Amino acid sequence: MLLHGTDALKQAAATGHALPGFVAYNLETVQGITAAAETAGTPVLIQAGSGSFKHAGRKALMRLALDTAEHSTARLGVHLDHSRDLDEITACLEAGYTSVMVDGSHLPFAENIALTKEAVRRARHHGAWVEAELGALPGDEDVSTGAVAKTATMTDPAQAEEFVDATGVDALAVAVGNVHGFPRDPVRLDLERLAAIHAAVPVPLVLHGANGLPVEELHGALARGVAKVNVNAELRRAYLEAVNATLPAALPGSDVVSVWAAGRDAVRDTALEVIGRLSPRAEGGDA
Ligand code: 13P
Repeated sequence: MLLHGTDALKQAAATGHALPGFVAYNLETVQGITAAAETAGTPVLIQAGSGSFKHAGRKALMRLALDTAEHSTARLGVHLDHSRDLDEITACLEAGYTSVMVDGSHLPFAENIALTKEAVRRARHHGAWVEAELGALPGDEDVSTGAVAKTATMTDPAQAEEFVDATGVDALAVAVGNVHGFPRDPVRLDLERLAAIHAAVPVPLVLHGANGLPVEELHGALARGVAKVNVNAELRRAYLEAVNATLPAALPGSDVVSVWAAGRDAVRDTALEVIGRLSPRAEGGDA
């Protein structure tokens, strides 16, 4: 079923766990994410951004994600990831997306506020919630470049307070040392900065690029207001490794379905692992 509104996000924030925002590109990734949510019985967001739309076609992927969510027994939000384009945001809202991310993190502060405010205005009209970003993460959203955190612009707590107040966003993505993709060097989060942002803003925080984070650091983030964690590279890697392993046996008979099915199942299994990591209390963690 479609997961509307911010209750699940707020509940995650209140109980020290996080909703996973899994990025999907095609039928098999949507199926794998959905199967994981059905098995876990916890709410999950299926997300796609411009990179996914470029591959699958916006309408096709939108309809696929929405139809799958509507017909699933799991509670699934359908979320637009990283969009700088108000037309794209409007198209997703009109199609029935339950939330959108407007990404003005590349803009000067005042322009980020203006873009985000307009996205919030449009989303309210459709009953959807909005995530925005302040500060910038290094790395690419669709291909792992090995970028390092040093190139990031960290989120400033005082600016975050002003930003959330001025825009009315429902969730804020932050840059606190996190990196898109698999970083070359180990990543350390600035948990003090995260705590200061959490104290300054009244909305749940979002962590992008949590790949390769030591689990205690991830749980440290969940204890400091992070209630949504985006996951892409880990699913992409699992999909590709499964395809690679299945290919030799599939090639002689051109058995393409066995390759796609292996990719789908690998996405499901990896998503399930991530869901477990994002529920520290359920697994006896300390967050
Ligand atoms: P990764 O690609 O590092 O998993 O990050 C995903 C993400 O933040 C999508 O917005």
